[in-house]
Amino acid sequence: MSGFAAIDVIRTKRDGGVLSDEQIDWVVDGYTRGRVADEQMSALAMAILLRGMNPGEIARWTAAMIASGDRLDLAGVRRPTVDKHSTGGVGDKITLPLTPLVAACGAAVPQLSGRGLGHTGGTLDKLESIPGWRAALSGDEFIAQLGEVGAVICAAGERLAPADRKLYALRDVTGTVEAIPLIASSIMSKKIAEGTGALVLDVKVGSGAFMKSEADARELARTMVELGGAHGVRTVALLTDMSTPLGLTVGNAVEVAESVEVLAGGGPADVVELTLALAREMLTAAGLPDADPERALRDGRAMDVWRAMVSAQGGDPDAPMPVAPEVEVVRAERDGFVSAIDAYAIGVAAWRLGAGRARKEDPVSAPAGVVLHRKPGDQVRAGDPLYELRAEDPARIPAARSGAADAVSISADRPAVPALVIDRIG
Ligand code: URA
Repeated sequence: MSGFAAIDVIRTKRDGGVLSDEQIDWVVDGYTRGRVADEQMSALAMAILLRGMNPGEIARWTAAMIASGDRLDLAGVRRPTVDKHSTGGVGDKITLPLTPLVAACGAAVPQLSGRGLGHTGGTLDKLESIPGWRAALSGDEFIAQLGEVGAVICAAGERLAPADRKLYALRDVTGTVEAIPLIASSIMSKKIAEGTGALVLDVKVGSGAFMKSEADARELARTMVELGGAHGVRTVALLTDMSTPLGLTVGNAVEVAESVEVLAGGGPADVVELTLALAREMLTAAGLPDADPERALRDGRAMDVWRAMVSAQGGDPDAPMPVAPEVEVVRAERDGFVSAIDAYAIGVAAWRLGAGRARKEDPVSAPAGVVLHRKPGDQVRAGDPLYELRAEDPARIPAARSGAADAVSISADRPAVPALVIDRIG
């Protein structure tokens, strides 16, 4: 491959030009191998954020990120494979009940998940609050569990889109996360490399999401649906509301406990609604449109798969979950109706309580988090509990209290509650 000077690639994009296929291949490969320096890639990422990329550039950038590592081959798995990806939110534990539910209906779900950073939670952090559960599986263990149980949630291996691993860490500290071409290529390179046959995207919109506006979320969804199709992965997207936390819990152990309630046929209405909506899309995309996920929740089949999935990864599905010793209850100051609960503020509070991490290498607290007592539309009287702050370390409570101070709005009249599923794209 001929060597392009990184500075020429940066200048092309800085000046609003279109990168050639050769430039994209060269710069992604060079960055992965360390020939293009962090400061050069930072400048290029910022130029991409400011100038954008056309569909051809995004497709080539995604292909180069996939080519930086291995593409898994799931052809040996006898069931149709289908995965789900959420762009990240607060209280978004949907992967936990959804993965065993879809497997219970006949598909195989290869969920390679991540950890939380900042105010959004990570699926692996949540599952690690189950005593004994391990996130790291070898390639052989992954394929074997997918075939036998039909459901795996584990960490992505080192060889899955290594360009993204490096670039994502760089974007995180250079203010370049929120570029639609970079988010779309980051997510889709990992999902395409994972080898799934079909993919359902949950693209979040609202204060707790990366995309704060519906127009941006739509553009991101359309871009990812096109990328999936171009790589032979049947892809659809749901646009869903993330202005309010999902369910009543935000944290790690508390979200696992809520997910188990859903698998037992209960749980908060919004978590059940979104789990079923995504399950139907996944089963249709997998070629199983007649499967009945509602029944699989009711009759205990989804719970059976959950227990098998947790046990297969060393976890004890019957172990008591860790409990936080410090609990502070925040109460309503006046009568009225809860009109909004700001997802971002609650996410920040949970993070400050210890549920999330400030740096990638920090540990997270299993029992820390926020438990809501009310949701938008509920009536309250002065003195009623609105939410609880839970922590292992009492010193964490004051910062969380101030972060969440204005999170809950109370109005005199009953508010209209926004729809959870806004649109379907694909
Ligand atoms: N999730 C990802 O995997 N990548 C992004 O760029 C944003 C969210």
